[in-house]
Amino acid sequence: MTTNADSRQPIKPATGKLGILTPGLGAVATTFMAGVESIRRGKSSPIGSLTQMATVRLGKRTENRSPLIKDFVPLASLDDLVFGAWDPIPDDALTAARKAGVLEASDLDRVAEFLAAIKPMPAVFDNKYVTRINGSNVKTGKTKRDLAEQLRQDMRDFKAKHGLDRLVIVWCASTEIFIKHGAAHASIEAFEKTMDANDDDIAPSMLYAWAAIMEGVPFANGAPNLTVDAPALVQLASDRGVPISGKDFKTGQTWMKTIIAPGLKARMLGLRGWYSTNILGNRDGEVLDDPASFKTKEESKLSVLHTILQPDVYPELYKDFTHVVRINYYPPRGDNKEGWDNIDIVGWMNYPMQIKINFLCRDSILAAPIVLDLALFSDFAHRAGMKGIQEWLSFYYKSPMAAPGLQPEHDLFIQQTKLKNTLRHLMGEDQITHLGMEYYP
Ligand SMILES: NC(=O)c1ccc[n+]([C@@H]2O[C@H](COP(=O)([O-])OP(=O)(O)OC[C@H]3O[C@@H](n4cnc5c(N)ncnc54)[C@H](O)[C@@H]3O)[C@@H](O)[C@H]2O)c1
Repeated sequence: MTTNADSRQPIKPATGKLGILTPGLGAVATTFMAGVESIRRGKSSPIGSLTQMATVRLGKRTENRSPLIKDFVPLASLDDLVFGAWDPIPDDALTAARKAGVLEASDLDRVAEFLAAIKPMPAVFDNKYVTRINGSNVKTGKTKRDLAEQLRQDMRDFKAKHGLDRLVIVWCASTEIFIKHGAAHASIEAFEKTMDANDDDIAPSMLYAWAAIMEGVPFANGAPNLTVDAPALVQLASDRGVPISGKDFKTGQTWMKTIIAPGLKARMLGLRGWYSTNILGNRDGEVLDDPASFKTKEESKLSVLHTILQPDVYPELYKDFTHVVRINYYPPRGDNKEGWDNIDIVGWMNYPMQIKINFLCRDSILAAPIVLDLALFSDFAHRAGMKGIQEWLSFYYKSPMAAPGLQPEHDLFIQQTKLKNTLRHLMGEDQITHLGMEYYP
């Protein structure tokens, strides 16, 4: 179902150009595109990106082999990337970036012409699923299948127009309202029937995912919507040999959680409660101000602690802790989110202690390198013959997709080990267990 990691096959080289298409041309997508162009021009550095900056240790420690990931694994080069997007709001990437207010005018001016040339294709969009946005740049069609077919045509046209070798899609569009798995998502037959019947169970994001898989294009989902995380699409991706991953970029507060919670558990310190609240004032914050969209986000954020702390295994430490997550839309703050965490922990002889975190972060600055890494790794996975859910990319997600019946892995450090071991394995190197063999005769 997931990968072909056990039957390694030759990896196709990253020749030619790679198109990165983003449904959504808002704060995250434009910050990502502006950043890549700025890096290509030698004006910025790719801070936050594993594909560009991280190394991977190979062999024994004594061998001193730690190449950059990008020198070890055949990834598309930044110079070979071409960007495109869909958005119901017709603003080009420069206008959208200016409105998003993430990057300084001087940083945008440097890449202004480049961004202005990126104009969003008409989106598959329905205000029922994202109530706070209204846009005019929207496709029309008789059925949902018609709309999805138009997306497939867009992909083919984009590829031909820019002379691209391959495409990947990273969902950078707004969070849709909460939808539960249902009969419509259970099999591809049911899914396609529901598309034909224009049923509400199929959200726009699912149409992008279906279209991508049908076109053999890897799909990564940066929002918490179900999207590609539906049994029908997981099966389709596996059948058609397409890598998929999701959900919800792990950037600010949840990223912190997946660092601190494993630390508490490693020390066998107890948890009584974790209260997280945020203020943010960007368009994402406005969309999440709608309770139906927030519910999707909340589900994604809440699952993390339980999976990491395993209350069933350690009831004395982690049974019944209180976990509250709040997001408050506060326009003056723009994209510069402020998050507070109050963590009530318990130590030796049941003595209570508290940890307080005040994280002044920049949402899109943290998300942009994740978009880049997901695009490059998804493309690499495809060339390596991997298909279906890419669990090794869990590192990047708040609510990682896992094979049916498996718990997702949330611990950032296990996720990192899994990511690097997958790269080692695919490239024919030994996996690293950190077992000090020198202690054994
Ligand atoms: N920035 C972060 O740290 C972070 C972390 C995790 C997840 N996310 C998610 O990433 C997504 C993008 O965040 P953002 O800050 O760029 O939001 P944004 O509001 O600035 O941009 C989203 C864009 O998507 C467009 N859109 C909505 N529905 C669409 C559709 N059906 N097709 C195409 N475009 C559509 C909107 O018009 C908007 O321009 C959100 O879902 C957000 O929850 C962001």
